[in-house]
Amino acid sequence: MNPSSTLDWPLMANNITREDLDLLIEHLRKPDPRLTHGPEVRAFEREWSAWAGTRYCVMLNSGASANELTMFALRTLKGEGEVILPPLTWVSDIASVLHAGLEPVFADINPRTLGMDTEEILKKITPRTRAVFLTHILGYNALTRKLVDELARLGIPLIEDVCESHGATFEGRRCGGWGWASNFSFYYAHHLSTIEGGAVCTDDEELYETVRMMRSHGMTREIDNPEMRKSWGLRHPDLNPDFIFAHAAYNMRATELQGVLGRAQLPRLDANNEKRRHNLRLFLAGLDSEKFHTDFDQTGSSNYAFTLVLREPDLLLRDRIEASLKAARVEFRRGTSGGGNQLRQPYMRRRFPNIRPEDYPHVDHVHFFGWYIGNYPDLDPARIPSLTALLNAV
Ligand SMILES: Cc1ncc(COP(=O)(O)O)c(C=O)c1O
Repeated sequence: MNPSSTLDWPLMANNITREDLDLLIEHLRKPDPRLTHGPEVRAFEREWSAWAGTRYCVMLNSGASANELTMFALRTLKGEGEVILPPLTWVSDIASVLHAGLEPVFADINPRTLGMDTEEILKKITPRTRAVFLTHILGYNALTRKLVDELARLGIPLIEDVCESHGATFEGRRCGGWGWASNFSFYYAHHLSTIEGGAVCTDDEELYETVRMMRSHGMTREIDNPEMRKSWGLRHPDLNPDFIFAHAAYNMRATELQGVLGRAQLPRLDANNEKRRHNLRLFLAGLDSEKFHTDFDQTGSSNYAFTLVLREPDLLLRDRIEASLKAARVEFRRGTSGGGNQLRQPYMRRRFPNIRPEDYPHVDHVHFFGWYIGNYPDLDPARIPSLTALLNAV
């Protein structure tokens, strides 16, 4: 094998199959098919919450919307205060905290899971902590027994961002089933895709009904529980019950087509995730452990994309690796999830001029010396040694 040959390795391929598209066409061929959210979205919500292990699910138009609504609901139901979250996450996790008028408090990551480190989280808890908002990065579980127990003891809600980790588990139970709320994305590149899409899952009925309202302009007619719905009308006799706006909210609804796609994909999700896990094991086993981190904690992981992180800071090596990947036509993203350290981004620098990104050294290392590379069910595992050989040879 010639390690310098072209590999043509995209970040994602064929995530929405011909069969999925045919189901959409079948839906559209129905006489007068319903397109705005309706029975297909409802059915997907039932199926997704059963899969995630939660009582309730609200399907949305994106994972960013899931972030936005959980933070809006947190602020509405629990009041103002602080939210502990990582600088290594997607922009919408931090944006949603800011939009809700909550204060972000950052905690560094554990380099073996890329998720927030339990000890760092516990150090940041104050009487003003309203929630811990944890991101499971690129399929790695970030929960620990100590974190779950301490948050339960202190009565602090855990919110899990599982947008890039569908199917990751902690102690045998799916991530997203541990928190007060959990957020999912069904964007094209994710484990399950509805083109764009997202969901909030929870066991808490009050949170569920609040998110249902917030998804649809804050309207109380969206409430499922008839007693709860009726009580709004009784308290506001001057209003038409069809138009009671309990919250100054949004329209973040999904369409029926997204419901059809989600339902088509769910039956193959577990088998796809098994292929992703297997591929990650091969990738990490093939990497030179002197040069790259290979000791990621794969327990319960449901890999989204291959994680490549240099052991030591080395800008020249970094640039050579990127040049080799480009020459071999291997797509990659530096900084891994969200492009690295969000504290370095202009929106954070403007808002928090005194924040020091370098105070989070593990995040900063990944920012400068970490990447992700595509791993997807269609990937032929026999091709993985050619990728690791290319990387080891740099
Ligand atoms: C961790 C995480 N949270 C939230 C999101 C936002 O999801 P979406 O792209 O569906 O808005 C993403 C993006 O892909 C993500 O990786």
